[in-house]
Amino acid sequence: MANVTVIGAQWGDEGKGKIVDWLASRADAVVRFQGGHNAGHTLVVGDKTYKLSLLPSGIVTGTLSIVGNGVVLDPWHLKAEVEKLEGQGVEINPDNFAIADNCPLILPIHRDLDGLRETAAGSGKIGTTGRGIGPAYEDKVGRRAIRVCDLAHLDHLEPQLDRLCAHHDALRAGFDQPPIDREELLAQLREIAPFVLQFAQPVWKRLKKVRKAGAKILFEGAQGVLLDIDHGTYPFVTSSNTVSGTAAAGSGLGPNSTGFVLGIVKAYTTRVGSGPFPTELDDEVGEGIGERGHEFGTVTGRQRRVGWFDAVLVRQTCAISGVTGIALTKIDVLDGMDEVKICTGYRLNGKIMDYFPSHAADQAVVEPIYETMPGWSESTAGARSFADLPANAVKYIQRVQELIETPVALVSTSPERDDTILMRDPFMD
Ligand code: GDP
Ligand code: IMO
Ligand code: MG
Repeated sequence: MANVTVIGAQWGDEGKGKIVDWLASRADAVVRFQGGHNAGHTLVVGDKTYKLSLLPSGIVTGTLSIVGNGVVLDPWHLKAEVEKLEGQGVEINPDNFAIADNCPLILPIHRDLDGLRETAAGSGKIGTTGRGIGPAYEDKVGRRAIRVCDLAHLDHLEPQLDRLCAHHDALRAGFDQPPIDREELLAQLREIAPFVLQFAQPVWKRLKKVRKAGAKILFEGAQGVLLDIDHGTYPFVTSSNTVSGTAAAGSGLGPNSTGFVLGIVKAYTTRVGSGPFPTELDDEVGEGIGERGHEFGTVTGRQRRVGWFDAVLVRQTCAISGVTGIALTKIDVLDGMDEVKICTGYRLNGKIMDYFPSHAADQAVVEPIYETMPGWSESTAGARSFADLPANAVKYIQRVQELIETPVALVSTSPERDDTILMRDPFMD
């Protein structure tokens, strides 16, 4: 098993970017396979901080970085992000960066529609990132998307534009918006096309070559399993499958290529946007964790909701996603607490549940059952070996491992790349 698939095992923002960046120096290619620029992955390397939304985190180490077909791509955002990173000294060129030519595009109309729907929904809103992700995926499965390869054939776009406009103009009329300005859209696409096309290729072919040469591929998931369109807290989810199996379909490789599935798990729980959250803390304990963990969204700057570690949810997401081992991140944020709690089950209508039910109404009312453990006053921040961790932190990690029925492969103790404890090398498995 030479490949590693990294996925978020909670509601996103578990620290995937940091772990992918740490693993990237030992990989030959890093591939994003779903989501879009709704992701926000923060990498800290020495005195530099990189914030990536669309580009694979491998780009910072100069590792071949690939945007797979499962991603929805905003070409204008792509240009802005490439330019921002180049401004930070990162080299990005067709040798180290490729985009699947069958990737659907996010257009300005998608972003507009995302915003219009959220505003109209009022208190029932999903709390999306407003980046047009949902509408772009809808057009993909509705067979009316404009894709990267269309940028090389803009003179033949009319039939696709007919399909796109027929659908969107009706929706737009419902929001009192004018029809799509086809000429303007075509002009915008013509302007951005050369920038995107320099990176475009059938990436399945490149990945086939990489695989044949015995190289290691690192698949970088975005969001988390609880935001998965099928397995997440529907309808408060994102519009892609975030589970590990998507790595294959979203990049053009078979299901046997995903390798070691590394679930990234925060030592507590956070969520951005609306939807159920059984262990949410609405008190100063939650505020304290949020402040110490700097829990503000990378993409929208929104304050993240914070709660205790929920072992029921993570046991479920690890099972659903076939997680081989987890990376437990942000353990340092729990330093200095008198006690820490772990949710081990729920109460629903007088019954005890060992799983999270599917219906939104049940998800909203389950009551967490907690196990309380003593905290630790010593610091874990920056620890690079298990022996450096205080005894109670070790007990906490061991209890988490037991409850989620999945081994801990890595522990992360600060935002900094090298503040990482390796217990089981995912590339060696
Ligand atoms: P992602 O979306 O899963 O990549 O996670 P984000 O980057 O959105 O959020 C994770 C945040 O926690 C980032 O600001 C990271 O720099 C930071 N981080 C990652 N691992 C650790 C850790 O072990 N300890 C602390 N204190 N911060 C961490
Ligand atoms: P990373 O990769 C956390 C959430 C949004 C919203 C829901 C739907 O950084 O972990 P969307 O714009 O995708 O239609 O919004 O999903 N969301 C995330 N939450 N981390 C993310 O990505 C997220 N990407 C989307 O807040 O609740
Ligand atoms: Mg994030």
